[in-house]
Amino acid sequence: MTDFLDINKTDASDLHNILGQAKAMKAARADQPKGTLDADTPLANHMVALIFEKPSTRTRVSFDVGVRQMGGQSMILSGSEMQLGHGETIADTARVLSRYVDMIMIRTFDENVLLEMAEYASVPVINGLTDRTHPCQIMADVMTYEEHHGSIKGKRVVWMGDGNNVCTSFLHAAGQFGFDLTFSGPSNLEPEAEAIGYAREKGSKVYIERDAHKAVEGADLIVTDTWLSMHDKQSARERRHNLLRPYQVNNELLASAGDNAVFMHCLPAHREEEITSEVMDGPQSLVFDEAENRLHAQKAIMRHCLGV
Ligand code: CP
Ligand code: NVA
Repeated sequence: MTDFLDINKTDASDLHNILGQAKAMKAARADQPKGTLDADTPLANHMVALIFEKPSTRTRVSFDVGVRQMGGQSMILSGSEMQLGHGETIADTARVLSRYVDMIMIRTFDENVLLEMAEYASVPVINGLTDRTHPCQIMADVMTYEEHHGSIKGKRVVWMGDGNNVCTSFLHAAGQFGFDLTFSGPSNLEPEAEAIGYAREKGSKVYIERDAHKAVEGADLIVTDTWLSMHDKQSARERRHNLLRPYQVNNELLASAGDNAVFMHCLPAHREEEITSEVMDGPQSLVFDEAENRLHAQKAIMRHCLGV
């Protein structure tokens, strides 16, 4: 049994195995109704708690459906309705939940909440997004890229806009899967230095390019995300929008990249802000495959964590 806390904390060989299993499990249930049990039900007799301290559509539904397809049972808990949101410590919550459930997935604000949960729980803990990272998302993204264009190793990925939590996990993935990453965004919204250092230490190239059009030249994959994340203050909205507007992914920008480039966004998207509908709904967009693959990737992550 093991946790899934971040892409840089799981061995690269395990990450590859997880994606291999995700692809096989996806293929095995192609065209089946969503509620059909998998032929193999490795989560039978397992109970999974899904805790949310922030809103969610994809993470919430894909984990829930994934547990059920594998024969397990799940419960969705809102942090604010638990004693956790009213002063009970994370350590005590972790110890108590470990007496009831076999695995915990948590979406929270401060990464320390996740880390403390993992430290005190005696069952595996999965990171469903913190202010700092979003590893499950990037596992689905790598899976999606590889389904369409083969191995991501050696490819040129361009992150456009805010160097946020999703960007940090992309940098971890650059190091683990061996692709290069160019960040194009304003200087005061650059990704954290630690993640850039991590990717470089692992041998990946990380570039910073202020000019969005130059950044995407020769890109294999262009990725962006919202200009205001769930942990950002609403009062920062106007300032951030002004800073990030030059980094909108639109048809003009895609033209600078060329036909080879594909586009991804973890969603939810804010159409006509960071991404235009023409790109989002256009032929180079993989966003809905990406959303679907959250389900398949996370099913394999859960099996990895439980060792089943
Ligand atoms: N991409 C993602 O994590 O979406 P949700 O916030 O809807 O879970
Ligand atoms: N960066 C976004 C990702 C949402 C899935 C946020 O944290 O709100």
